Amino acid sequence: MDPIVWEWIGAGIRWLHVIAGIAWIGSSFYFVHLDSSLKPRAGLPEGAAGEAWQVHGGGFYHMVKFLVAPSNMPDELTWFKWEAYATWLSGFALLIFVYYFGAQLYLIDAQVMALQTWEAIAISVGSLVLGYGIYDGLCRSQLSKSDGWLAIFGFGFVVLATWIFTLIFSPRGAFMMAGALMGTVMAANVFMVIIPNQRRVVASLMKGEKPDPSLGRTGKQRSMHNNYITLPVVFVMIANHYPLAYGAVLNWLILAVLIVMGVSIRHFFNTMHKGLPAPWWTWWIAGVCALIVVAISRVTPIDPAEDAALMPAAAVAEAPVGLADAADIVISRCSMCHTAEPVWEGVHVAPKGVVLDTPEAVRKHADQIFVASVWTHAMPPSNITEMTIDERRRLARWFQDGAAAVN
Ligand code: HEC
Repeated sequence: MDPIVWEWIGAGIRWLHVIAGIAWIGSSFYFVHLDSSLKPRAGLPEGAAGEAWQVHGGGFYHMVKFLVAPSNMPDELTWFKWEAYATWLSGFALLIFVYYFGAQLYLIDAQVMALQTWEAIAISVGSLVLGYGIYDGLCRSQLSKSDGWLAIFGFGFVVLATWIFTLIFSPRGAFMMAGALMGTVMAANVFMVIIPNQRRVVASLMKGEKPDPSLGRTGKQRSMHNNYITLPVVFVMIANHYPLAYGAVLNWLILAVLIVMGVSIRHFFNTMHKGLPAPWWTWWIAGVCALIVVAISRVTPIDPAEDAALMPAAAVAEAPVGLADAADIVISRCSMCHTAEPVWEGVHVAPKGVVLDTPEAVRKHADQIFVASVWTHAMPPSNITEMTIDERRRLARWFQDGAAAVN
């Protein structure tokens, strides 16, 4: 296909995905907040459990929550589901567009596992289906009686899955698969449990029967899972622009800590919206998590291949490296993609506008080169141009010496 049209299709799907995600997360946050802020009052209509007054855009809104069907059921009832479906569908389209069509660049890393494109895609799709199956199994087991235990097992499951992904896919692919799994769980919760349960509740209310209380309880539990994993999922979705997150040797651990961080921040807001005392300790957890994440990426890389990896200083070449040498390495390993008119198939413009085809350009991008190909092995993607460890160490030395030498 015409490369320019291709690029624009990618931009279009991404745009759609972000907008759908905003709509979904927005309505989800809104309803969790509304639910928490409802207050009972004498004189509410029959069957109403609480009310809230809100002001927005110059108008006043009087929200009333009915636990049973109101005496006269409205003709029109708005269901909130297309935000979720559209987010998942556009997200899956994006996964196909970026990670399946670009599998050799983004999903597969021959040094991790030498997979054929079709094998990588099959494992990826299969693990989304299997992953939801396992999560759903946990939620239907005895564990579901305790929100706390279910959360701990669910968390353990996501971390384990992420770690397994790092044994199969490229670091970046593994990170994105963890996000795709969490996103799939969220969307499937809406599609398979929350909406069907809601339909059953509405049906029995219409018949004037008392709905099975477990339907609402299960729906609410899944809905809260979605609410709590929103922040980590959004982080994963933007993390593919941060090699320090996905490209680190311990990227699965970074994700685990970020999940704890996101969940505690969400917990702070959920509690506050209930009008309860704000749990200050959530910020301590979030702060400590942030420090741990930075600490992990300060100590982990450079090369996973060798033990010296854990001590970056030991992984620096002994002989000084000047700009000319550094530029030679970068130009020979990077400029087939990072140039005005890339010669690498499937890359149509200098990625992210990073051009690395002259010594001057290499010097200008020294910091980015360091993060992308020395501190992490994010670049070249899947080490597709076979940059050697020795070359990375020489770039490390060049960077350590200031990277600014003109010769
Ligand atoms: C096969 C093509 C290819 C090669 C070779 C390659 N890159 Fe990249 N590079 C890309 C692509 C594609 C992206 C955009 C990734 C994305 O969409 O986030 C990128 C992004 C980058 C970025 C920007 C990261 C960001 O998101 O801000 C830097 C810096 C970078 N590459 C450095 C390098 C260096 C240094 C090398 C050589 C050691 C290199 N690249 C080799 C394809 C390549």
